Amino acid sequence: MKVLVVGAGGREHAICQAFLRSEKISEILCIGQNAGIEKIAKMFDVGINNFYEIAKIAKENNVDFTFVGPEQPLAEGIVDYFEKEGLKIIGPKKSMALLEASKIYAKEFMQRIDVPTPTYNSFPDGDAAIEFLNSAKDAPIVVKVDGLAQGKGVYVCKTRFEAIEALKNLMKDEKLSAQKIILEEFIDGTEASYLVFTDGKSYKLMPPVQDYKRLLNNDQGPNTGGMGAYSHHPFASKPLNDLVEQNIIAKVVEVIKEEKLGYKGVLYFGITVKDDAPYVLEFNCRFGDPEAQVILPLLRTDFVDICLAILNGKLGDMHITWEKEFAVCVVLASKGYPKSWEIGFEISGLDKVKKDALVFHSATKDSNGKVVTNGGRVLCVVGIANSLEYARDNAYENVALIHFEGMQFRTDIAEV
Ligand code: GLY
Repeated sequence: MKVLVVGAGGREHAICQAFLRSEKISEILCIGQNAGIEKIAKMFDVGINNFYEIAKIAKENNVDFTFVGPEQPLAEGIVDYFEKEGLKIIGPKKSMALLEASKIYAKEFMQRIDVPTPTYNSFPDGDAAIEFLNSAKDAPIVVKVDGLAQGKGVYVCKTRFEAIEALKNLMKDEKLSAQKIILEEFIDGTEASYLVFTDGKSYKLMPPVQDYKRLLNNDQGPNTGGMGAYSHHPFASKPLNDLVEQNIIAKVVEVIKEEKLGYKGVLYFGITVKDDAPYVLEFNCRFGDPEAQVILPLLRTDFVDICLAILNGKLGDMHITWEKEFAVCVVLASKGYPKSWEIGFEISGLDKVKKDALVFHSATKDSNGKVVTNGGRVLCVVGIANSLEYARDNAYENVALIHFEGMQFRTDIAEV
């Protein structure tokens, strides 16, 4: 079989690797540029929102199905476009990608079906939110922009004054200032991410993950796309997982089924737990990045079989199994990330990485036979072992072998 992967970051490298492990796959095609992925897939340097060109590649190469990595093309309707063209594709339609692409839509959806989520108020713009805060009681509060913001749309603020500052700053950003705003109650809980495969009728849980959104150790510094992750999550006990499934995941999938909303792909629930009660902070309509880099290496079942079950509406019949080992991912980022950064620095040491670790390329390219940096998050180093501690040691031992100018990373990933 031939499969086409849309997107070319660390998540998509992990997706391509998962396909590569399947004996059913004869060729992997991938949209984008990446020095790691190009070793295992045929790459096409086409924009991820150029649906016409991507569909043409799928048709001309007789691709059996397409798997979409990033949120942007899903939010723009790549699934609707492909289905109209008679092409098989995994991902939610535009109407369901709204669960991620509009925080207000997601909140209204959760309220309607009685899924626990922090209380909130929505505002047409930043000025209206500031006006509200000027006369509000002081308390920690979370500022969120309504739409997609590539990790720049959420500000956890200790006081209403900090929230006003955050709003003033985001209104200086051309794209963010045009967005509606949510002010959300801050719940001081423990976070975990629950991801499921779904065919729109049933779902299969993946191992819960801890991700690290802040740039610096001890959760300091600005929010990023993610600086690390690990799975399995020791905090995600059986009783908690049961509660999350019962109060949240099963309810959402049941509504998708009952209302025939149509959702074929990965649905991500960002959860916080306080006093044993889970609340949904956010949905993503796809694999997280770097969550995919710790989940997919633990998948024992053939990834192609899962994709075919999703496409054929047969996921309910499947039994998916996972390795019992732990995976820890450390993201290596460019100096200046997440604000601004330079690219083109040579990466050394990739050939020294031990066989029991994995390196997924987030933003690299080949330049005259050398691998160079090509974005903010550059590489993800994943250690795998039979304890979280060993997996962590394994990841950091291999991080120490890699170097590029300005390389920055957190040193506290999976320190639990
Ligand atoms: N790591 C969070 C995300 O993929 O959005």
